Amino acid sequence: MAVQVYFIGAGPGDPELLTIKGKEIIERAEVIIYADSLINPEICQFAKPDAEIHCSASLSLEEITDTIENAVKQGRLVARLQSGDPSIYGAIKEQMAVLDEKEIEYEIIPGVSSLFAAAASIKTELTIPELSQTVIITRMEGNTPVPARESLKSLAAHQSAMAIFLSASLINEVVASLLDGGYSPETPAAVVCRATWNDEVVVRTLLKHLAERVNELGIKKQAIILVGKFLDQQSKRRSRLYGKEKKGGV
Ligand SMILES: C[S@@+](CC[C@H](N)C(=O)[O-])C[C@H]1O[C@@H](n2cnc3c(N)ncnc32)[C@H](O)[C@@H]1O
Repeated sequence: MAVQVYFIGAGPGDPELLTIKGKEIIERAEVIIYADSLINPEICQFAKPDAEIHCSASLSLEEITDTIENAVKQGRLVARLQSGDPSIYGAIKEQMAVLDEKEIEYEIIPGVSSLFAAAASIKTELTIPELSQTVIITRMEGNTPVPARESLKSLAAHQSAMAIFLSASLINEVVASLLDGGYSPETPAAVVCRATWNDEVVVRTLLKHLAERVNELGIKKQAIILVGKFLDQQSKRRSRLYGKEKKGGV
C-alpha cells in the first residue's frame, strides 16, 4: 500500500525554503498537522482548499497520532509538518514509535534546518580551514534533560564551532558555561532570531557582550546561538579546494 503519512521538514520560516518534494505532498495532503508557533502558516497556502488543518501546539502526542491513524483509516494523505529539519529537536522519534506500534507506514522528507538558515543569514561558513572543521549542535538543559557529559561547559573544551538551539531564554547561563568551559571572552558570537522570517534579527558580537545584547533585544525564543572562531570576519584562511595546483573547485 502507498505511504499515507509524511513527516515534512518545513524549513525555518520562509515558505520558499520548503523542498519541492515537501511542497508537492502538502499540495496533495488531505490532512495537515503543524505547530503554527514555529512554522509559517503561509505554508498552508499550498494546501488544497478543503484540506483539514490541525494546529499541533494544543494537541498531545496521543491526539496527534490518533488524528493520523483516523485519517489513514479513511484512506487520506497526511502531512505532518515539522519546523526546520525533522531530525533536529523535532521530537519525531516518539511520534514514529506510536505509528510503528499501530503498523502505520510513514516517510520523512528532510528540510532546511534553522541552523543552516542562520548561517546563511549571517553569510558565514561553519567549517573554516584551520579554525574549525567540527560543528557541535547542542542546547542548554531545559525541560528536556541533557546528559552531564554533554554540558555546554564540557563541550566548550573542543573550541569548535557551536550552534546552540532552544536556549536564548537562558543566555546568561549559556555565556557563563561557555566562558567557564574555556572559550575566550573575545570569541566571536552571533544570534539569529527568526531566521528567514520578515522580522529576523541578527546580532554579531563577542562572547563577552553576547548576553547583554540578547537581553537588550529581548530575544527569548526561535533563536540560534552561534559561537566560535569561524565567525571571525577578519579571517582570510583559504581551503585547498581552489588552490592553483588544483583545477576546478567544488
Ligand atoms: C523545537 S526546535 C526545532 C528545530 C528544527 N527542527 C530545526 O531544524 O531548525 C526549535 C528551536 O529551533 C530554533 N529555531 C527554529 N526556527 C528558527 C528560526 N527561524 N530562526 C532561528 N532559530 C530557529 C530555535 O533554537 C528554537 O528554539
